[in-house]
Amino acid sequence: MSDTAEVKTLVIDGQEVSAVRGQTILEVARENDIQIPTLCHLEGLTDVGACRLCVVEIKGSNKLFPACVTSIYEGMEVSTNSERLQKHRRMILELLFTERNHICSVCVANGHCELQSLAQDLGLTHVRLPYRNPELTIDASHERFTADHNRCILCTRCVRVCAEVEGAHVWDVMGRGINSMIITDLHENWGESTCTRCGKCVQVCPTGALYDKGKIGSDHPKYPDFLPYLNLMREAR
Ligand code: SF4
Ligand code: SF4
Ligand code: FES
Repeated sequence: MSDTAEVKTLVIDGQEVSAVRGQTILEVARENDIQIPTLCHLEGLTDVGACRLCVVEIKGSNKLFPACVTSIYEGMEVSTNSERLQKHRRMILELLFTERNHICSVCVANGHCELQSLAQDLGLTHVRLPYRNPELTIDASHERFTADHNRCILCTRCVRVCAEVEGAHVWDVMGRGINSMIITDLHENWGESTCTRCGKCVQVCPTGALYDKGKIGSDHPKYPDFLPYLNLMREAR
């Protein structure tokens, strides 16, 4: 914290905490060991507020706020774990599970999937909504990696890591709403794209949507922790 940083005091889940102007609720909560579930957020990437798993309540408003993109202010009172929030988070997960074809038992990320882990953590035992069962493609044209759109939750971590960290900007999002798809370059096959083969997108993908052809099932844990380290090294240069 610099000497000139403007210090703010706020309350999260009844705990008085201090923070610096410009910090997000999520950052301050994590600094104080208060856990808020996230999916699209990944330390080291720009936040986009896409998944809404991190919603919190702020005293004085009926709205829910995404903790990863909401800045703190003096005197703010935040609640991160009410029954209302739990219900919203379970509903978001249900919608994600019904939108595409998440059949965990035959997924390469089974046991290493952030969507699956969150469902377990939040007590999602069944899905009450009808499944859409869309017909989606698998792109296995890359010599090292595969993209399975059936498992994609459109978190855009791959888009951001490829653009912001690798500097290649191979991935993008095409379409709107329920018809959105991640694409490589101008919707070409991944294997024929401008991909540098660095593997960063595969490592940050929270589900089995992007995977390494050489590793499946229990061989397929992902290690997104390289990002904060990489950024630290770059800042130090
Ligand atoms: S492997 Fe290719 S698509 Fe993935 S982050 Fe690296 S350059 Fe981008
Ligand atoms: S491919 Fe993976 S990282 Fe990319 S948007 Fe889909 S779920 Fe997120
Ligand atoms: S983690 Fe905050 S909206 Fe996804």
